[in-house]
Amino acid sequence: MTLQLFSSHAIKGMHLKNRVVMAPMCQYAVTAKDGNPNEWHYIHYLSRAIGGTGLIFLEMTDIDPDGRITEYDLGLWSDDQIPAFARIIEGIHAHNAKVGIQIAHAGRKTEFVSNPIAPSAIKFPGSPYRMPRALTTQEIQGVVQQFANAVRRAVKAGVDTIELHGAHGYLIHQFQSPLTNKREDQYGQDLSRFGVEVIQAAKREMPADMPLIFRISAVEYADGGYDIDHAIQLSKAYKAAGVDVFHVSTGGEGPTGIRQLGNYPGYQVTFAHQIRKEVNVPVIAVGMLEDPMRAQSVIQSGEADFVAIGRALLRDPYWAVNAAVTLGQEQTTIPKPYQAAY
Ligand SMILES: Cc1cc2nc3c(=O)[nH]c(=O)nc-3n(C[C@H](O)[C@H](O)[C@H](O)COP(=O)(O)O)c2cc1C
Repeated sequence: MTLQLFSSHAIKGMHLKNRVVMAPMCQYAVTAKDGNPNEWHYIHYLSRAIGGTGLIFLEMTDIDPDGRITEYDLGLWSDDQIPAFARIIEGIHAHNAKVGIQIAHAGRKTEFVSNPIAPSAIKFPGSPYRMPRALTTQEIQGVVQQFANAVRRAVKAGVDTIELHGAHGYLIHQFQSPLTNKREDQYGQDLSRFGVEVIQAAKREMPADMPLIFRISAVEYADGGYDIDHAIQLSKAYKAAGVDVFHVSTGGEGPTGIRQLGNYPGYQVTFAHQIRKEVNVPVIAVGMLEDPMRAQSVIQSGEADFVAIGRALLRDPYWAVNAAVTLGQEQTTIPKPYQAAY
């Protein structure tokens, strides 16, 4: 049977009605600066559920107030934040979509914290970034525990899956990169160690049938940065530690050098495909996959198991419905009250 973008698919206990994923996208819209999602987030995410998306990732959600990029980020550093997330998750479920959440710490890539933390005291280039201090070995254990606590809260709020943010130059990525991890302890000798410990701690807080997703930067673009072979080695260690699906992005560690970021449709698909093949694991491909025919071909060719859509879903909350119509697979996707329009 030919695989389709709009065919159902299950990963462990998570049954998805289609293979369309909304990529995590920071809204920087927490005007109260308390980490709680508000009416903006409620309407923003529920619109994409009504619009037919199978799996919706809530944006980067931070494990500590100082782990935020800006004061306007979402956070799950306190049990008090659970109800606001639960309300949105229930709403998304009521419109027949599943929900993931991206759990993160910005590390040195915060834009407002005066004394940021990082694996090593190496500054992210340019303004508004500040010189971070290197975590002590003991402090690292505390950060791993904060990841676990945030995962526990997300599970309590009702999510269907967790995504750990190991991409785009944030804290987990900082540990796995030779550019930003110059430590001499066990976390520097093995660049996958911090990620592995976060994965294991997260798994302990998750039901056995809930999939764990890991977003990875498959290559770095800064000179001296790692390549796909390093990402494959990391992915093997992360899979052994408990990752069920990789969400394959690239870069974010610093200004680009000789290796250049692609700016064409599907520019990251090849990396997703390589990780899928070499690590023997399901993957989500992302990056300029707005054309429904192209998104469909990524699934049909076996390059990836899911397609994540970012900016196109900001432009059009009904991207999935409209893509299903374009592909002639709309029967189950158009919400009944909207059928007259099609
Ligand atoms: C406004 C905006 C916010 C983003 N925030 C996040 C984020 O919170 N976490 C993350 O991993 N990626 C984030 N990204 C990257 C997207 O998830 C996605 O990988 C990227 O936009 C490429 O996909 P696209 O070409 O479909 O937009 C963000 C992108 C945009 C445009």
